Amino acid sequence: MNNFVFENSTKVYFGEGCVREYLSCLLSDYGKNIMLCYGGGSIKKNGIYDEIMTVSSKADKVVIEFAGIPSNPTYAKVLEGIKLAKESKADLILAVGGGSVMDCCKAISLGAKYDGDIWNDFWARPGVIDFEPLPLGFVVTVSGTGSECNGGAVITNEELKIKTGRDYAKLNADFAMLDPTYTYSVPKFQMVSGAFDTLSHIMEIYFSEPDESNVSDDISEALMKNVIKNLRAAIENPKAYNARSNLMWDATMAENRIIKLGKKTDFECHQIEHQLGAFTNCNHGAGLAVLHPIYYSHICKAGEKKFAQFATNVWGISKDGKTNEELAKSGVQALADFIKEIGMPTTLKELGINENINLKEIADSCGIVGGSYKKMTHEEILEIFEECKG
Ligand code: NZQ
Ligand code: ZN
Repeated sequence: MNNFVFENSTKVYFGEGCVREYLSCLLSDYGKNIMLCYGGGSIKKNGIYDEIMTVSSKADKVVIEFAGIPSNPTYAKVLEGIKLAKESKADLILAVGGGSVMDCCKAISLGAKYDGDIWNDFWARPGVIDFEPLPLGFVVTVSGTGSECNGGAVITNEELKIKTGRDYAKLNADFAMLDPTYTYSVPKFQMVSGAFDTLSHIMEIYFSEPDESNVSDDISEALMKNVIKNLRAAIENPKAYNARSNLMWDATMAENRIIKLGKKTDFECHQIEHQLGAFTNCNHGAGLAVLHPIYYSHICKAGEKKFAQFATNVWGISKDGKTNEELAKSGVQALADFIKEIGMPTTLKELGINENINLKEIADSCGIVGGSYKKMTHEEILEIFEECKG
């Protein structure tokens, strides 16, 4: 294993009723002004908003609302939130939602205590946070990204057409509350998209060196099998508490830094999807579903041994009569079959992307990572996009 330093400062409250049971007590650790941030309004339909308002009022807090955070949060929305956080003298940012709300709030918490240009200083390039951002608390309503237990925030700069993420330990929330029943109202497409995002995170870590026996890869194999099994169960019965619980915790486990320990990690597929999202605003998990099998067909030869291990240990494919190359390819095929089975898109067209879009411009804007089995070029990324046309 490679050397590592591990840190995760977020305290997690998991299970049905956790918000009712613990939020009031948690809020008492902060000042009077709570900035309640959320998305397009789903929390007003499913009762989560009412529950949080009741708890906040019992805790005698002043609630300042910041609504309308969009999926794939924009830098413009971050700036709006920073202004409100400063003007209202917020003492805590309480983010209620999924990855988009949590990511936007991480950037707001940083900007609320910083007078410079946060895009230039912390997203365009890695920066150093040598001050305390505004405290953050999360109530997760849709699982998938794992943003609740890391310092990662993926922000889209619409003017520059760049969607990029940075992970700062200082942007980990103080607490994250995960009630699986809160996810019951998530529409099927978003539930599946979130679970596929989780699977993608695990694969992005697993398919990277070192490949000799290591605990991170062993946990990753168990997590991948768990996501596959419980996503099937949640599709069958969206209110299956055990399935929703497993998916919710899988998402956190995939991105709380634990399975990254000792690994290089890849995340090239995420780089490509993020730029596709910057140009088209496509759904994150669905974009990954289109890209992954094609991207893996490009790196399968270079990572043959690991893809063969993936075929047998994750998909249960027998080695009998197969060369290592055939076994490796059958693992990628099993992934592609699963994507079809769960109803995710498999082509750019199914993803809703206009066929006249300039794919070269998007390919040229993608970051190239160093941890992949095969280092991409912008020309090869364009080939991948062309193959995604189906
Ligand atoms: O906006 P509302 O009305 O709340 O509706 C949301 C939204 O339309 C809906 N939703 C959420 N909870 C619900 C619900 N609908 C009904 N019932 C509920 N309980 O779900 C939709 C999607 O929400 P969103 O937060 O956009 O989804 P997700 O959690 O997939 O987040 C995606 C964002 O996270 C970034 C992605 O790039 C994307 O911008 N990521 C963040 C990462 C991180 N910080 O670690 C890692 C990931 O790789 C990813 O890049
Ligand atoms: Zn992701």
